[in-house]
Amino acid sequence: MASVYWYNGEFISQEEVRISPDDRGYYFGDGLYEVFRVYGGRLYEAQAHFGRLVRTAQGLRLDLPYSVEDIQRRLEELIALNGLKEGTVYLQFTRGLAPRNLPFPGARPVAMAYCRKVPRPVAAMESGIAAVTVPDIRWLHCDYKTLNLLPNVLAKQQALDAGGDDAILHRNGTVTECSASNIMIVRGGTVITHPADNLILHGVTRGVVLRLARQAEIAVEERAFATDELLEADEAFITGTTVEVTPVVRVDGRPIGSGEAGPVTRRLQRLFAETII
Ligand code: PDD
Repeated sequence: MASVYWYNGEFISQEEVRISPDDRGYYFGDGLYEVFRVYGGRLYEAQAHFGRLVRTAQGLRLDLPYSVEDIQRRLEELIALNGLKEGTVYLQFTRGLAPRNLPFPGARPVAMAYCRKVPRPVAAMESGIAAVTVPDIRWLHCDYKTLNLLPNVLAKQQALDAGGDDAILHRNGTVTECSASNIMIVRGGTVITHPADNLILHGVTRGVVLRLARQAEIAVEERAFATDELLEADEAFITGTTVEVTPVVRVDGRPIGSGEAGPVTRRLQRLFAETII
């Protein structure tokens, strides 16, 4: 079946979507997005994603053209129309169409959403990934989920070019997050991750994993840590909508802990899996 898109309030096929060159998303990356997980045909942690969407829209002063309830209904319809059981929904809003000029145009934001079939990352969750540290050159509102992802694109490619799977970003030696996920380390049984401030995206998966850790009485510290502390950690793992809880077993060519997924990571993977069934 052809893929059905939600574009400007209509359900149409991908071929029918017409993107204008005057779309401010196209010129400036002037817009925002969310990536939702779909498990068993249902949006996972929908309220947390919508909360972040609204917060980003307020931060960017972009008036969403629909209520959250409306958007959720549309996304559920989209999932049903596409017959999606396991995958992701991508949703974005741009600041609308106008001749290229920086000031807000007063145009109606353009909405777009589509689904993709995406299996759970079983192999990476089992064997872990190798990461490469890369300077974090982003702006000072990484807590907004905006379309401007050029630093993320460059960091990811730099990591791949160096033979790694992903980039761990740091600001002057302080680890922030990864190119499309959050990072946590484990030292002496304590899970440590950067605080949810303006320097990282407040990951929905990050929130779920911290909640699960606290419920399981695993100690949690939300504090900044240095790349040196990462390299000396017992365990490290990344969290995100597409990666779930994936171990990081090598950083800059050096093993983390035993060089295999550690016990706290494994436990959090199991607890996370229980939330999606
Ligand atoms: N990325 N940090 C960054 C920079 C991200 O882009 C993402 C998600 C996360 C994890 O957030 P969450 O747990 O809410 O997915 C952290 C999505 C998946 C993406 O851009 O494709």
